[in-house]
Amino acid sequence: MAHIISTFDNSNELRNRAKSLIPGGAHTYAKGDDQYPVLSPGFIARGHGAHVYDVDGNRYIEYGMGNRAVSLGHAYPKVLRAVEREIRNGANFTRPASIEVECASMFLDTIETAQMVKFCKDGSHATSGAIRLARAVTGREIVARCADHPFFSTDDWFIGTTPMNAGIPKAVKDLTVSFKYNDIGSARAMFKRHRGKIAAVILEPSKGDAPKNGFLHQLRELCHESGALFILDEMITGFRWHLNGAQALYGIEPDLSCFGKALGNGFAISALAGKREFMELGGIEQREKPRVFLLSTTHGAETHAMAAAIATMKVYHNEPVIEHLMEMGELLRKGVAEIAVARGVSEHFHASGFASNLVYGTLDQDRQPSQAFRTLFLQELIKRGVLAPSFVVSYTHTKREVQRTLEAVDGALRVYRKALENGVSNYLVGRPSDVVFRATNRFVAPLADVPALVPQLDLHPRQKKLHSAER
Ligand SMILES: Cc1ncc(COP(=O)(O)O)c(C=O)c1O
Repeated sequence: MAHIISTFDNSNELRNRAKSLIPGGAHTYAKGDDQYPVLSPGFIARGHGAHVYDVDGNRYIEYGMGNRAVSLGHAYPKVLRAVEREIRNGANFTRPASIEVECASMFLDTIETAQMVKFCKDGSHATSGAIRLARAVTGREIVARCADHPFFSTDDWFIGTTPMNAGIPKAVKDLTVSFKYNDIGSARAMFKRHRGKIAAVILEPSKGDAPKNGFLHQLRELCHESGALFILDEMITGFRWHLNGAQALYGIEPDLSCFGKALGNGFAISALAGKREFMELGGIEQREKPRVFLLSTTHGAETHAMAAAIATMKVYHNEPVIEHLMEMGELLRKGVAEIAVARGVSEHFHASGFASNLVYGTLDQDRQPSQAFRTLFLQELIKRGVLAPSFVVSYTHTKREVQRTLEAVDGALRVYRKALENGVSNYLVGRPSDVVFRATNRFVAPLADVPALVPQLDLHPRQKKLHSAER
């Protein structure tokens, strides 16, 4: 069994301070308190490999890995050494650093369909840069996003399509349209509806389900027939599906593609890459066409982030990173499925997706997706020393971590079964978590509705009764 969790005293104190200082108490919505059970670590103090320690000293096997930004493991020595070496020579200069060229060259040796690349800090910069470039190339305004893919950018062209779209002008919202993944008919109808007006199509190569009947190739053909650019968002797939990107796995050549997340193993670096004929519109040499403002940020080429990316790519080139991610993911998938059957919850709980990027689904007694059951599952895993908003693994997750995780899953699914029978509210302490993209806040503040949280991991009285009955 994994480490036993004691209290969340320090986390709870920080939670309250954070909420008074930072809207939402966190700088990334997906990391916020509303995404986690009340009984959860609020803040992480440090991470090493596949483990993190919270501010109360509790240790967890972690999954999700910094919103998938960490694929080798936390504080991965080869990356850290490269970063430390580089940062001693300065982080940012008046003119470019030579490491920018080295990093570009290594990147283009890795992502073979691209001829040019520009680096930035966040994935959103890269995808929004791609959209601006496509609009400039085509002289059109409408962009088409895949409706089945949950996130492309923090910018208005995408956030305007979500329920959390306050502050975004209607005129901007109206310029983004959508189509369905693996449904070429929906894309065809969309191109027909907006004939000659679509600048670009953007989608992830896969969200876990492989493209069917040459979907990606058919979609690219539709784009090119109508004069639109075909953009692949490889933020997640880039360094999880295949060393050379999911585009290599599926044999598809995009006009532009966007990378980030695992590229720097947690250090901030993202990339917009693509065909020279488009990318050079952002350059200083072409004379025929208007100049495109193609990504230019003060911190875009921080030297240590380049060093992190080079070191990360070297590990990918020299070691079986993808194979390991896939092997650990498959072990987890198989183990979780077996446990779900054994505990009688296989109709209600399942892990799915590409093995290197597994997520899980939680269904209630009526087989409807349930945030309350998701929160309960998280709560029960945390109690058993596993912090897993997904089952996204890293290169440093070994069979040992997977085995310990499966033990925790077994314990959590025993409780899940009881909750299906007796009602989830009898087992979940406090409010359920909620989805990020919602128009209003529905649930009360996490600490306010559970006054008896001290000592934090003493079970809720109702829970205590049921647990003692269980034993
Ligand atoms: C597929 C995809 N594209 C783009 C982004 C935006 O990246 P960032 O958060 O680095 O701006 C994300 C972030 O989660 C993502 O998952």
